[in-house]
Amino acid sequence: MADDKKIKPLTTGDRTIPPAGAKMIPIYIMGREYMVPETLTIMKAIEYAGYKYIRGCGCRGGICGACGTFYRFMGDYKLRAGLACQTVAEPNMIIMQLPFFPANRPGYNLEDMKETPHEELRRLYPEVFKCVGCGTCSRTCPMDIDVMDYIALMKRGNLKGAAIKSFDCVMCGLCASRCPAQISQFNAAMFVRRLYGKHIMPKAEHLKKRVAEIKTGKYEQMFKELAAMKEDDVKKLYVEREREPEMAEPGKWMPKDTSKL
Ligand code: SF4
Ligand code: SF4
Ligand code: FES
Repeated sequence: MADDKKIKPLTTGDRTIPPAGAKMIPIYIMGREYMVPETLTIMKAIEYAGYKYIRGCGCRGGICGACGTFYRFMGDYKLRAGLACQTVAEPNMIIMQLPFFPANRPGYNLEDMKETPHEELRRLYPEVFKCVGCGTCSRTCPMDIDVMDYIALMKRGNLKGAAIKSFDCVMCGLCASRCPAQISQFNAAMFVRRLYGKHIMPKAEHLKKRVAEIKTGKYEQMFKELAAMKEDDVKKLYVEREREPEMAEPGKWMPKDTSKL
């Protein structure tokens, strides 16, 4: 067992220094016991124990999905899952991080898929149609996404529903690692969101217009003027800018000065 009297400073990451006298708790990292201060996330506890992240750590904010982790509590049969950067370490956790999972990820060209998107899903991800509805993926997802449901929507050809339902996926791969039908849910969902964005979702006409305007060079002079300004003047301009009121009706509000639009 590690020395639990002296609290070591953290050596990597965003350097949360536990308060002096913090209670030490036992955790198990890859089968070995360590004493770490309570209140740390699993990620910080692993670093506290002396490991240095080279992979398996990215944003530290629950967004990138690099730190998928499985754990069990000593004496409890239940396998749990979470993101190491978001889950607080608790006494007697037995932890194993899974920074990568080999999942089906075929190549494709979205341009050719306008007419039969559901058939393309069937061709690229046939395993999606073998889902047995066990719900393990939904119970595993650290983002609380109903993964089984978006897979069911895919099977039924409701690609819009699947794209919207899977939108919060952080691609950690934990769902795929437990699927008895060997489905790579997160990659299939990414494919469906791409298809939806490319061929199904209505195009934003105002964006098209603005991109065309940018290409004409309409804003070049304004950018040059901004780039030549002193930092304090840029800050002042930003702070004093005309802002859209919080309760403005969508699409109705316009600034009084439209000369820069
Ligand atoms: S759907 Fe799968 S890959 Fe996406 S966040 Fe949930 S468990 Fe992770
Ligand atoms: S874990 Fe696999 S088989 Fe079970 S519900 Fe999820 S996608 Fe279907
Ligand atoms: S490090 Fe990015 S989600 Fe945990």
